[in-house]
Amino acid sequence: MYKHVIITGGSSGIGKAIATLLIKSGANVCIISRNQTKLNSTQAELETLKIHPEQQILAISADVSQWEQTQKAIATAIAELGVPDLLIASAGIAHPGYFTELEVAIFEETMAINYFGTLYCIKAALPAMLQQQKGHIVIISSGAGLIGLYGYTPYSPSKFAVRGLAESLRGELKTAGLHISIVYPPDTDTPQLAAENQTKPPETKLITQSAQIMTAEKVAIEILQGITRKAFAITPGLEMSLLMRLHSLFAPLLQWYFDSLVRKTRHNKKLQINNEINFYR
Ligand SMILES: NC(=O)c1ccc[n+]([C@@H]2O[C@H](COP(=O)([O-])OP(=O)(O)OC[C@H]3O[C@@H](n4cnc5c(N)ncnc54)[C@H](OP(=O)(O)O)[C@@H]3O)[C@@H](O)[C@H]2O)c1
Repeated sequence: MYKHVIITGGSSGIGKAIATLLIKSGANVCIISRNQTKLNSTQAELETLKIHPEQQILAISADVSQWEQTQKAIATAIAELGVPDLLIASAGIAHPGYFTELEVAIFEETMAINYFGTLYCIKAALPAMLQQQKGHIVIISSGAGLIGLYGYTPYSPSKFAVRGLAESLRGELKTAGLHISIVYPPDTDTPQLAAENQTKPPETKLITQSAQIMTAEKVAIEILQGITRKAFAITPGLEMSLLMRLHSLFAPLLQWYFDSLVRKTRHNKKLQINNEINFYR
């Protein structure tokens, strides 16, 4: 059983599902995210799931893309609940769209939250974890961190970046007795996915529509099982397992397939416009 688990993005989606399972297992949990109302309501929900009265749930509002805020939040969590034996960086955002139409600010914000937000949490918690010479860090990437996806030009690079961080940090942590895992979830039924669906270009919708969608709970279960196995790469579902192992090999085939779907969408769009023109003639 974990003594203290810090989960960024713990107020919603995958982070919240992990927090729920951990609370049900008796762990003390600290959730960190920005919106205080969401934090309060998740904290209240988690309180009802405690299995013993001494169990503690901390909810701290902080923007992980801001170094000072992140440092302060992690320091508070450590002061209240002790050094974490598990740190899960799940906070993230995604704004799909056409590269040419998206503002530069979206690219900057996505990298600031998804990449630097992950790095800041690790930087802030690691000194204390190193002193303990034990602990596990978990970074949440995405299938879009294994292959670049049409419509995901701000998101995919940020998820490739955390993969680079995990792979390069792994060896340093291992010599210090710490573990790190990187998770590649598939499309997961969360508020983030619902928001993404609002701005996804039609080409992206066609590419992603046949992919498996998992529940946040199922993804959380596979993540916790992977952590227990001390797996470096955690791939919830069969599709992500195959993609993780074969993505370099599959890339040309997938690009060919995605291009054919993009051509199909463009062709349908053209037909639709022609039909509309003929209708008004
Ligand atoms: N859902 C999917 O299909 C899917 C697939 C692959 C990977 N992922 C990844 O899984 C992780 C969790 O996603 P999800 O689907 O569970 O999303 P979600 O339901 O939208 O939850 C995201 C969480 O991150 C927090 N957050 C966002 N920006 C933050 C910031 N700057 N500082 C602190 N907290 C912040 C949010 O709270 P506030 O907004 O209140 O801050 C919320 O608690 C993300 O890294 C996502 O990229 C998701």
